[in-house]
Amino acid sequence: MSAGQRPGHFPQPAHVAIIMDGNGRWAQMRGLPRQEGHRRGLEALRATVRNAGDLGVRILTLYSFSTENWRRPATEVSFLLGLLKRFVEKDLGELHAAGVRVRIIGGRDDLSPDLRRLVEHAETLTRDNTAMTLVVAFNYGARDEIVRATRRLAADAAAGRIEPAAIDEAMLGSRLDTADLPDPELVIRTSGETRISNFLLWQAAYAEFVFLPVLWPDFDRAAFEEALAEYGRRERRFGGVSEGVDRSVGAA
Ligand code: IPE
Ligand code: IPE
Ligand code: MG
Repeated sequence: MSAGQRPGHFPQPAHVAIIMDGNGRWAQMRGLPRQEGHRRGLEALRATVRNAGDLGVRILTLYSFSTENWRRPATEVSFLLGLLKRFVEKDLGELHAAGVRVRIIGGRDDLSPDLRRLVEHAETLTRDNTAMTLVVAFNYGARDEIVRATRRLAADAAAGRIEPAAIDEAMLGSRLDTADLPDPELVIRTSGETRISNFLLWQAAYAEFVFLPVLWPDFDRAAFEEALAEYGRRERRFGGVSEGVDRSVGAA
């Protein structure tokens, strides 16, 4: 067990990952088209990046489009892709000026060449920034990510670069899209749904999950603080036993 994995309460997560859910329902409740919910969701995203910096979160991962979201109607898919494109085009300068390093995780092969170029440009431009890391999960599915990492491992083994018997967690981890990022300590999902929807299956193995009833466009600083406070109340055990617990097993 490494030092960071001793049982206890931890006041502040360094890496927070958020499943931004509920845009459609937010719009539906107001008799608006789903697109309006996504537009307002983007405003909440912008505010959340700012708030994360203020609240001392060093790494923020946002689930913005899943590998399963291609199943939505074509008009909604193209609206969401356009929204992401405009976000990167419009906000990149400001993020860069604020010292934010941008990373995009997810499959790139299915993206259009212009979107791929934009994603690469955002990463290259901001790669040396150190104030905060913003990880955007886009065309992301954890199973897809693990499959792609496994393919790389298999190629290395087939080429004789690694021994199959030498494969360990670190080797697989270093071939994931999140290589060199620490695991999230806290995963937040908005909208009241209590499922993971193919997000960070590997990385969230020991994350704390906080499910909030608030719909994503209404996720504000108070909701963010509430999730962080809930995290601080949790006791993380990593399979061990609480500090202060009698550790003797006793007679059989
Ligand atoms: C989250 O909101 C945004 C994306 C998944 C892209 P939804 O669009 O899933 O909203 P609901 O869940 O239908 O309310
Ligand atoms: C998860 O939300 C994906 C994102 C937030 C990008 P969904 O709305 O797609 O998840 P399900 O379909 O309710 O599981
Ligand atoms: Mg949803």
